Amino acid sequence: MNTFQPISGELHAESVPLSRIAREYATPCYVYSRAALTEAYRSFDTAFAGREHLVCYAVKANPNLAILNLFARLGAGFDLVSGGELQRVLAAGGDPRKVVFSGVGKSENEMRQALEAGILCFNVESEGELLRLNQVAGSMGKSAPVSLRVNPDVDPKTHPYISTGLKGNKFGVAYDDAPRIYRLASELPHISIQGIDCHIGSQITELSPFADALDKVLELVDRLERDGITLHHLDLGGGVGIRYQDETPPPAAEYVRTLLDKLAARPHKIIIEPGRALVGNAGLLLTKVEYLKHGESKNFAIVDAAMNDLARPALYDAFHDIQAVRPGAGVQQSYEVVGPVCESGDFLGHDRQLALEEGDLLAIMSAGAYGMSMSSNYNTRPRVAEVMVDGDKTYLVREREQVAALFAGERKLPD
Ligand code: LLP
Repeated sequence: MNTFQPISGELHAESVPLSRIAREYATPCYVYSRAALTEAYRSFDTAFAGREHLVCYAVKANPNLAILNLFARLGAGFDLVSGGELQRVLAAGGDPRKVVFSGVGKSENEMRQALEAGILCFNVESEGELLRLNQVAGSMGKSAPVSLRVNPDVDPKTHPYISTGLKGNKFGVAYDDAPRIYRLASELPHISIQGIDCHIGSQITELSPFADALDKVLELVDRLERDGITLHHLDLGGGVGIRYQDETPPPAAEYVRTLLDKLAARPHKIIIEPGRALVGNAGLLLTKVEYLKHGESKNFAIVDAAMNDLARPALYDAFHDIQAVRPGAGVQQSYEVVGPVCESGDFLGHDRQLALEEGDLLAIMSAGAYGMSMSSNYNTRPRVAEVMVDGDKTYLVREREQVAALFAGERKLPD
């Protein structure tokens, strides 16, 4: 789908020119496409047709209430990593019975909130967590639904910061330890075993790591069944990559087919937890060129968005395509596209060929996932506005922060 495409020489979001969004809401701002979000969700959901499944959107990728609400209306479940995310899902109208709760450090308070809400499953990541969850559930007179997150020791061939299924990662329980911990779980009075879970990493652009991880999970499922432990569901995590530059990630249908081919003879309900693949290419960051500076060895385009708004380039050296909203007629030059934050690492793109003038608008593409959700207030920069486009309509789905709100909770010392 061409969600963001040029029409009459200007980049549009669906049928809205981006200059109109800049005029109405100012820059910088995130711009999302409802049609792209819907299509991305449906591409996973329909690929499972005929098979009991649940697509649990990984809230961390982009937790805006409008996005959560849209996915909830499409029938999605949610994958959480905090009590805060649970509150967002509930506020957005998500169904707690479709919620799985991942994360290595769930607090007692978060366990309580989730048990109170009646979530589908806790993805438990350690023996200590299992024991604590048993206690908390017992104190509430409840039974906690549980999967163990196992670490299949598979190399997802992605950035080391975002691979999670290797032996050296902090995530999940060791593969060889899983049978013992499942046995322990089966003996705990306030734990009810529901399934098994694994998540090997993010921005994975090949199918083989998913297939290898699933093979290992299925081996474990068989072993557990021999031990008398029956599972209702398999949660295979998220991680499907998107195209930022020239990657060729598998389309949702192919990814799902790869899973289902191995699962044909199995009775289990299948859960997946995609984040990036649902929202990444459904959003961009709209920014304005403040200054052009021609340095001794480099040209700089200083824009009004910065690393605090989109951390991925600074943090992972991640590539985001940068497009001029109205490509200039002048000669293209190589630009370092940088923000106003006082760090040399504050860049959005290196060596981009652009014909620019001050005041031009630029679109930082593929910014729907881990963009706004990883933004900060560094340099006392208010978080930017978020705008949802739906056909020819635009909706402000998050107001730009006011500076006064940033320090409203702070206190001076008494005289
Ligand atoms: N499930 C679990 C347990 C996860 O830890 C994650 C992501 C997901 C699902 C969703 O993964 P996805 O489908 O989005 O790949 N900030 C990094 C990505 C960190 C991903 C963390 N876990 C980035 O900007 O690339």
